[in-house]
Amino acid sequence: MKPIIALTKGRLEKQFLKFFQTLDYDVEPLLNKGRKLQVETDQFSFFFAKGVDVTTYVENGIADLGVVGGDILIEHQPDVYNLFPLPFGECRMALATKDGYIWPDQKKRIASTFTNITKEYFKNKGESVDIIKLEGSVELAPILGLADAIVDIVETGTTLKENGLVVEDEFLTFSARLIANRSTLKVKREQLVPVIEAFKKGAKET
Ligand code: PRP
Repeated sequence: MKPIIALTKGRLEKQFLKFFQTLDYDVEPLLNKGRKLQVETDQFSFFFAKGVDVTTYVENGIADLGVVGGDILIEHQPDVYNLFPLPFGECRMALATKDGYIWPDQKKRIASTFTNITKEYFKNKGESVDIIKLEGSVELAPILGLADAIVDIVETGTTLKENGLVVEDEFLTFSARLIANRSTLKVKREQLVPVIEAFKKGAKET
């Protein structure tokens, strides 16, 4: 059976494809996949999912390997082998708010998708805040008055800029990572190790 690789949909998907094209594998079916969620190439079975779901599929052994943002691994701490960084998907975690915002004296309200990271960040600062969990477009929260600020990933900074927000503090940097299921890495070792090595070599050369 071919190695099964779970890929994160969206932004990382395009960057993964660019990286994967530098390796010596069949890539054609991935380039023309349209809206399909599963793609077979000569060497691999790929499927596409949201980042956090990639970790769930890998953790449960449905996928042998996964490509996921470091942010997801820090936030959710899945029980997988966190193998090594890949040379794309570089982001920072930032606290951001409206340009010129005057913070109120009362307890701060912070909106984020990354509630664990947010909790840890303010714990380290010795500050107690109210955390509001949102699933996306978190930039809206300070603009609409739901929160004083957000904790979110920043890649190019365009989303913050175009929505009138500014970075107050940046506190984590990460990139995409290759992850592996703990038991299939042992069971399918002969199949998976060469793939992992090829990814590692590609990552070093990029
Ligand atoms: C992420 C993040 C920011 C944006 C940052 O959102 O939540 O909104 O990317 O990227 P930038 O600095 O390059 O502008 P994503 O596009 O993944 O969608 P989401 O809003 O649904 O989380």
